[in-house]
Amino acid sequence: MAIPTAMLKLSLRTHLRNLSRIGIPYAAHLQRQMSSEAILGRLKEKGLLRSQAFIAGKWVDAEDGTTLPVYNPATQELLANVACVGGKETKEAITSANNAFYSWSILTAAERSKILRKWYELLMAHKEELGQLMTLENGKPLKEGLGEVVYGASFVEFYAEEAKRVYGDIIPPPLGDRRLFVLKQPVGVVGAITPWNFPLAMITRKVAPALACGCTVVVKPSELTPLTALAAAELALQAGVPSGVLNVVMGNASQIGDTLLASSQVKKISFTGSTAVGKKLMAAAAGTVKKVSLELGGNAPCIIFDDANLEVAVKGTLAAKFRNAGQTCVCVNRILVQEGIYEKFAKLFSTAVQELRVGNGLEEGVLQGPLITHAAVQKVEKHIQDAVSKGAKLLVGGKQHNLGYTFYEPTVLGDANSSMLISREEVFGPVAPLFRFKTEDEAIQIANDTQFGLASYLFTENVSQAWRVAEALEYGLVGINEGIISTEVAPFGGVKESGVGREGSKYGIDEYLEVKYVCLGNMKP
Ligand code: SIN
Repeated sequence: MAIPTAMLKLSLRTHLRNLSRIGIPYAAHLQRQMSSEAILGRLKEKGLLRSQAFIAGKWVDAEDGTTLPVYNPATQELLANVACVGGKETKEAITSANNAFYSWSILTAAERSKILRKWYELLMAHKEELGQLMTLENGKPLKEGLGEVVYGASFVEFYAEEAKRVYGDIIPPPLGDRRLFVLKQPVGVVGAITPWNFPLAMITRKVAPALACGCTVVVKPSELTPLTALAAAELALQAGVPSGVLNVVMGNASQIGDTLLASSQVKKISFTGSTAVGKKLMAAAAGTVKKVSLELGGNAPCIIFDDANLEVAVKGTLAAKFRNAGQTCVCVNRILVQEGIYEKFAKLFSTAVQELRVGNGLEEGVLQGPLITHAAVQKVEKHIQDAVSKGAKLLVGGKQHNLGYTFYEPTVLGDANSSMLISREEVFGPVAPLFRFKTEDEAIQIANDTQFGLASYLFTENVSQAWRVAEALEYGLVGINEGIISTEVAPFGGVKESGVGREGSKYGIDEYLEVKYVCLGNMKP
């Protein structure tokens, strides 16, 4: 059931009036209200504005009728009320995925591939609407929203192709009357728990390889950004994904998570989110010995050596730090600058940061949208206060943006040091602290001095140094002279407490496969 337009208009207006009561100017939001309404109206017309859970190929309400509000983080407008489901509906989704597993898994790879390819084409055909929807519910600038549709769809395209390359092995036997084979088979029902920072790509990065090799899936998107997930599910349905193969449940996060983890029918959990939650999921998955893939938090260092091309280093660091307002697991958290170029880099970088235009992501030219919630702003403030109290200098920004509530100024801190919270904990916001170092060994030591190991970056023109440092960094991902390195064709994932397993690329599909050894004995000569 799509959301009735009249209800949408009414709830938006009521909400905007309430906003003016708490000091957020009504007029400023009225303009945005019009464009949000137009976007939602268009999505509704195309059947892509969904508010119900998707179970066994049907759109369903929560059994007790409860709903969950979804807000626009830029304006606090109410975008929709979606079904708020719990354990009972999750069990139904698991059962439907389990029932659908056999018939989906025995399709030929070519048959599954065709359906995935169609899903990819539909996602791309609706790039504009999906990008706008993402900007509405996540806040990211429209250019990033559109970029994420392409990024998200690329996993579906890649795994539509990779479905046909799930090869087994034949092993030379140790005894003449034997033949040894290795088969790769789908694990079964997968529970995919995904975050709000990439409302589409983190879903397709899990669902596409799972579906490609014959698994069925129950997805739990973030309660903050379920609308993109539901639109993607609608397109999967249109593409011909059979009933029960893909299910989407959102609402009571702990009930949904607990149900997925307790179920013996769910054979695999794939999670993207915080390290704290990842550890709990890993422990709970032990109860039924599920396979787990975890893509968790980071504390990414970015090392700028004296001989770096400064233009490339500023551009790359800016992109790696301020993508999605600093809210990605691979965003730079610590910028280590060699002493010979520290002052020059700090000046150039600060000038570039000052030019980042902050605003509603739907507005032309905006490069940084709001943070996802006010709590995220408070976390940023805590980090900055801590750093400044321990000697950091505010070079740019350092306070809430005058757009208020969820907006924060892009910030650069100079003279950061290891006593500061920001050196140990992911800030997940638009704050770039600069640390000074003298030697390559010192940079490597600082970079590796963390329990995290997801992304790392370095800028140098010296090829031997680049290779040496890349080998020494205890990270799953290393960007050399480049700030945006994620792509569907390369393996994404962390070491240490940043996770287990890899997503994307030929390695990503292995996470959804079991290896079976078959021994044929008593062969007659
Ligand atoms: C993430 O933040 O978890 C994903 C970032 C990416 O795919 O580049």
